[in-house]
Amino acid sequence: MTTFIYHDIFMFMSLNAEESNENLLEQLKAVAESTRLRIIAALESCELTVTEICGVLDQTQPRVSRHLRLLTDAQLLRRHAEGTSAYYGLRHDSDLLRAVAPLIDRSSPLLQRDLARLDAVRAVRADRAAEYFAQVAEEWDQLREVHSPTSEVEAAMLAAVTTPFVDSILDIGTGTGRILEVFADRTARGLGVDSSRQMLNVARARLDDDRLNHCSVRQSDIYNLDVPDSTQAVVILHHVLHFLSDPASALEVAAQKLAPGGTLLVVDFAAHELERLRTDHAHSHLGFPDKDVATWCRSVGLNLARNAIQHFPPAPESGDNALAVTLWTATKPLNSQKPSRELETSR
Ligand SMILES: C[S@@+](CC[C@H](N)C(=O)[O-])C[C@H]1O[C@@H](n2cnc3c(N)ncnc32)[C@H](O)[C@@H]1O
Repeated sequence: MTTFIYHDIFMFMSLNAEESNENLLEQLKAVAESTRLRIIAALESCELTVTEICGVLDQTQPRVSRHLRLLTDAQLLRRHAEGTSAYYGLRHDSDLLRAVAPLIDRSSPLLQRDLARLDAVRAVRADRAAEYFAQVAEEWDQLREVHSPTSEVEAAMLAAVTTPFVDSILDIGTGTGRILEVFADRTARGLGVDSSRQMLNVARARLDDDRLNHCSVRQSDIYNLDVPDSTQAVVILHHVLHFLSDPASALEVAAQKLAPGGTLLVVDFAAHELERLRTDHAHSHLGFPDKDVATWCRSVGLNLARNAIQHFPPAPESGDNALAVTLWTATKPLNSQKPSRELETSR
């Protein structure tokens, strides 16, 4: 009897080993091709749609789709549909990708051309958002109410910061400065940063008030933020990530700015299918599933308890515009020394 059990276990282990070697072979074959290496290099910095990848590689859709399918089947890429588009990103839990990606020589002329075209794709996305905010700056405070159960979310954000009074708050993508106003009584210093001068003009008018004179705003880009690392007790990203081509990198920057023991608050739409928000309101992402933001937080060394994800159903009066909102609360460990994002685990 015992012999049979050992025999079964042995068979089971060898089958598992066979299977994992087969997977490894499939993955090795998938990366061993020049276009697919270029795709991996392009996707390292942000998720892209098929059309965008075709633009970056300067290749036709059928060719590119074939390569994408192969990489996805080999568990090297993840694909998620957003409305009528599908976004591709690297499966950051792949040991093989972790080993291969740094070996790709980006100085080759071919790669240099790809990366220049990738910059252009990202610039188009950023310009679209900047143009949108330049146009809507004056009416933003009404617009922001349309989709979001605002007062409930603001109350939950205040409650999520457990320290009654903190030294500093950084509101990234502050827009018209509403969140600085919400947190003004809870901090000695509030700083809002935003890339849009028009939004900041409105924010400055809002902050021109005695109660708010410890809060200020300045123009700065999220990906190149001129705020010293490890200095902020609270960092907030309120309805910013869905405008960004690379939300994971923005989150990494936010984590870097947090002081040890500090709190990160991320508020954004839950995943939705209102495709027209891309065209009408320059959204880059149709909200986010809980686990995406949670994974990005963990991958930059933040702690996120299961109950640190709160959901807010849409206000009943928002009708066709109804969108649920999520608040993610994460904290930086007191002994944190993590300098930058590790490859995050896949969805
Ligand atoms: C939807 S608004 C949110 C504003 C504010 N947090 C609020 O909830 O009212 C997004 C803001 O992010 C800013 N933004 C977008 N991309 C940015 C970037 N790369 N760097 C800095 N700010 C950016 C926009 O200018 C805009 O003001």
